[in-house]
Amino acid sequence: MDRREAVLRELNLYPLWRLRDQPAQMAVNPLPVGADAEPVVPVAAEVKAVVATAVNAPAPLSHSPSIAGVRGELSDLGWPELKQQVRNCTDCRLRAGCTQTVFGVGDEKADWLFVGEGPGADEDAQGEPFVGQAGRLLDNMLMAIRLKRGNGVYIANIVKCRPPDNRTPAADEIAQCLPYLQRQIELIQPKMIVALGKVASNALLGRDATLASLRGKLHDYRGIPLVVTYHPAYLLRTPSEKAKAWQDLCFGVDSMAAK
Ligand code: URA
Repeated sequence: MDRREAVLRELNLYPLWRLRDQPAQMAVNPLPVGADAEPVVPVAAEVKAVVATAVNAPAPLSHSPSIAGVRGELSDLGWPELKQQVRNCTDCRLRAGCTQTVFGVGDEKADWLFVGEGPGADEDAQGEPFVGQAGRLLDNMLMAIRLKRGNGVYIANIVKCRPPDNRTPAADEIAQCLPYLQRQIELIQPKMIVALGKVASNALLGRDATLASLRGKLHDYRGIPLVVTYHPAYLLRTPSEKAKAWQDLCFGVDSMAAK
């Protein structure tokens, strides 16, 4: 089995692909993954129909005035200063329980920004987001849409420190940490944000919504298109949902192409 087949199998897509010389079943071919195959996932056509539906989300999470005041200085920081600030941050309880901060990784001028929830054990040990099992799946999801970590892609998390026992970060921890990501986004100026999972989606969109209600819509994060999909860790636990994640990725690619 070659690498591409392995990726497609991992994403539960393999039976959905056919050779190019077979009759076309769909007009849209957003994500060819190789010279001899193209997707026949009908959803790519469906999502195209809704691609024009930009959902005007409310402003991102509003912080208390005190936090906004404390974070005001971030807007002047460049990459080295921002990295230093995150490294030295002790503003919430998470720092005391983690090994190191996990800033983010990738192309600092990336078109694509993928945002997860927070570091897990592997990320805490290595200082890089999505390097464990969920990270391997994320890399394969990127590969399926012809993207690669570090090449036009930046990967970051909502919180920079590992929550104890991988618990969901608390609202105040998110509120403290989010300005760092907001500054990263200002510096990167991505053309598309992919929020991975409910926590990242709600934090960026300032919502408290189900992932199901957020999927399949083109959201707006401060003028940047944002799509929502499942967190890779959830997909590892629920592989039957991988096809829906594929729909979401196709939607993101289509949305980029339509710009
Ligand atoms: N899960 C996340 O949300 N982020 C990581 O970096 C790793 C796992």
